This record gives sequence, structure tokens and C-alpha cells, in this order.
Amino acid sequence: MKINTQTKLYGLLGYPLSHSFSPLMQNKAFEECKLNNIYIPIEARPENLETIVKGISKMNFGGFNITKPYKLDIMKYLDEIDDYAKLIGAVNTVNIKDGRLKGYNTDGTGFLRSFEKSAGTKIEGKNVFILGSGGASRAISMTLALNKAKNIYICNRTYDKAVELSNDINNQLGNLSRAIPMEHEIMKSSINNSHVFINTTSIGMLPDLETPIDKMLLNKNLIVCDVVYNPRKTKLIVDAEDVGCKVVLGLGMLVYQGIEAFEIWTGLRAPEELMNKIVDEGLKQNG
Ligand code: ATR
Repeated sequence: MKINTQTKLYGLLGYPLSHSFSPLMQNKAFEECKLNNIYIPIEARPENLETIVKGISKMNFGGFNITKPYKLDIMKYLDEIDDYAKLIGAVNTVNIKDGRLKGYNTDGTGFLRSFEKSAGTKIEGKNVFILGSGGASRAISMTLALNKAKNIYICNRTYDKAVELSNDINNQLGNLSRAIPMEHEIMKSSINNSHVFINTTSIGMLPDLETPIDKMLLNKNLIVCDVVYNPRKTKLIVDAEDVGCKVVLGLGMLVYQGIEAFEIWTGLRAPEELMNKIVDEGLKQNG
């Protein structure tokens, strides 16, 4: 990689920044496409966020990604927010053009692209059971609703939050969502009525090897998706494969949210296979 006065900067803004595959994945993609770009980590303490974002807008940045805890806070500092990110209410990607910052959300569309590729089917007409109602669930559920999922069941430990997200979906996109309490029998009947099961909670992430759902609730007709990518195959995914389900690993969402960001920044088709391979190899090394 040659850095010179023409090099455009990209980065990952968050605090604290723990291990991330984004720098490796984006830098390899820039290199593959022969772009004079570089992607760096930008750790911003909360009291410095505004100053840092203003600084970025005055420097030779082409854009950046936003991770925890700033996906909501960042919106205050942007000149424009894409309609789709507005609907989700969070921004994970910013594109900078002529000093103007425009926010996007690629988490939900990243999930959808990963789903369609791994499951080999569209979400249109499907009933979807989503566990969790935090930021990842909001991005995914809104995207699936927009892409014509038929029914969306939101199940969460804190039932009130499931009701809130479900109401938001219904108010903005039509009456297709229902909140489900975390009770075995109620979960069972809505899962039996679903084509797709998605875990958006962090249960199953290393070092915890738990599963968010009793294996007995799964059936072989379900497509089971996990947003947890570390370990590469969570206990949920292992259980689902054992039952005979099609599975969608969390690494897909991780890669495709980056692919979508790359495409927004460069206007080019991202080197999908290479980006998938880099993250896959990195996760295999982690065990
Ligand atoms: P993210 O942005 O990754 O979605 P988040 O917004 O903090 O993270 O949301 C985490 C989600 O996982 C929430 O739905 C949370 O449930 P609560 O609303 O009840 O907190 C869910 N979650 C996290 N740990 C959980 C656990 N041990 N059991 C059940 N649900 C859990």
C-alpha cells in the first residue's frame, strides 16, 4: 500500500474499539480494486465525539463506519440522513462528499444480502421470528418488513421493548408485526408458524457457549440465522444443523454490511468473495 497526498481516508468510529475485522476487510478490498484509500480505527471518547466528527469533515476522509455506542449519537452531526437509515433510526455508515456528511444504515441490508445468498431464497412472503429487540433487531426487522416479509414476530426478554419495536414496525410499514413474550408455549406456536428464525441477541458469543433457544423449539423446515459471528458456528447453529435446518451464519451480516458500505463509498461493486474469505479465515483462526 502506497500512501501519498492523494490517499483518501476511511475508518471505524467507536468507543472503546475492541477487535474488528473491518480494517483488514476494507483495506484488502481497496487494494484489490486498486484504490488509493486507507481504512483506520478511530477511537473517540464520548466527550470528543463532536470535535472528532467535525475534524473528519475537514480532512481528506471519504467516509467512515460507526459502531457502538455511537450509531444514534452520530445522527446529530450529519448534514443528511438517507430515508432508510431514518426509518431504522440509526446510522452505521457515513459518506462524505464536498465536505457534507450523509448517513446510511447497512446493517439490515447487509443481513438481507447474506440471508438471500446463504439461504438461496427471498424474504418476501415469509413469516419471521426474531429474538431480541435491540439495535440489530430494529435494523433487521425494518429491512425485512420493507422487503415484504409477511409476518414478523418480535420476542424479547423485556417484553415492553418487543411491544415498542413491534408497534414501530406496524405504525411505519403496515400491520405485520406482533410482540411475543418469552414463554415456551407461545414461542413454540409462533416458531411453528414461521419460515425463518433469527437470533439478534448476543447469547452464544464467546466465551459464552449458550444457545438463546431450546433446541426442542426448532424444526427442520426453519431457516435459522444468527447475528453472533464469534464463534463462527454458535451453539444455535450447531443445534439447527443437527435438526436439519438451513443455516445463515453471523459472519455473513458482518461481511455484507461492509460490502454495502464499500459500494456506497466507491460506487463500485465490492470484491465479495475476497471480503468473505478474509473474515472467514480470521474467524477460523479465532477457533
Ligand atoms: P444490539 O445493538 O447488538 O442489538 P442491544 O441494543 O444492546 O444490542 O440489544 C441486545 C438485545 O439482546 C436486547 O433485546 C436484549 O434483551 P433486553 O431488551 O431484555 O435487554 C437481548 N439480550 C441480551 N442478553 C440477553 C440474555 N442473556 N437473555 C435474553 N436476551 C438478551
